[in-house]
Amino acid sequence: MKQKISKRLEMVAQFVPQDARLVDVGSDHAYLPLFLVERGVISYAIAGEVVQGPYQSALQNVQNSDHKDCIEVRLANGLAAFEEVDQMTTITIAGMGGRLIADILEAGKDKLNQIERLILQPNNREDDVRVWLEKHGFKLVAENMIEEHGKFYEILVAEPGSQTLTAMERRFGPYLLQKVSPVFQKKWELEIDKLQHALDQIPTEHEVERNHIEEKIQHIKEVLDVSK
Ligand SMILES: C[S@@+](CC[C@H](N)C(=O)[O-])C[C@H]1O[C@@H](n2cnc3c(N)ncnc32)[C@H](O)[C@@H]1O
Repeated sequence: MKQKISKRLEMVAQFVPQDARLVDVGSDHAYLPLFLVERGVISYAIAGEVVQGPYQSALQNVQNSDHKDCIEVRLANGLAAFEEVDQMTTITIAGMGGRLIADILEAGKDKLNQIERLILQPNNREDDVRVWLEKHGFKLVAENMIEEHGKFYEILVAEPGSQTLTAMERRFGPYLLQKVSPVFQKKWELEIDKLQHALDQIPTEHEVERNHIEEKIQHIKEVLDVSK
């Protein structure tokens, strides 16, 4: 039976180039590598996992599949899952906080010379990931956003190159801003509601704090107005 994966992981998979040599960092269950190998997109992947439980599930899933020769499951922290000799071309890091993704990239940055594409799906703090990419010789080449089970997920695709982002682009995403999709609209309208709720709790005398939130709300409104 073919591996089924979430809409979120399917969106990540869509950005993996044909015949990529993929490292999936944080590969709980090895779902993504299995999905891509079964569909003939890739023929080799390393599934890296730092925690024993998820590592064992990934190992078991690969061993129970017909793709033992195509996927190596390695117990490793971040980019320690591969070496230059593995000749990997693409890295996916999905389902973690943006800060953790940036920390993983930072800790393993010496290994990124041979990497042609990073596909990152932070669960939050997407701006931290964009800032890291901008500072370390990667440019965004695509972005996407989906909603699944009431949660919003951004997918950031980067390749070697340089790029300077504005503060608004770092927060909202340069590609996501270009085409304000209904999902984007919904995510940021809900964010306005949350910020407004937070603002309502802050006493009027806490001016600095209130101004900070009001400014955030104003920026979102400016962005959403573009689509009207
Ligand atoms: C929430 S799961 C997401 C799994 C899968 N990538 C996905 O998107 O569905 C995050 C996984 O990343 C693993 N992880 C966290 N930090 C890691 C690191 N530094 N190196 C490797 N794996 C890590 C966790 O153990 C966990 O299994």
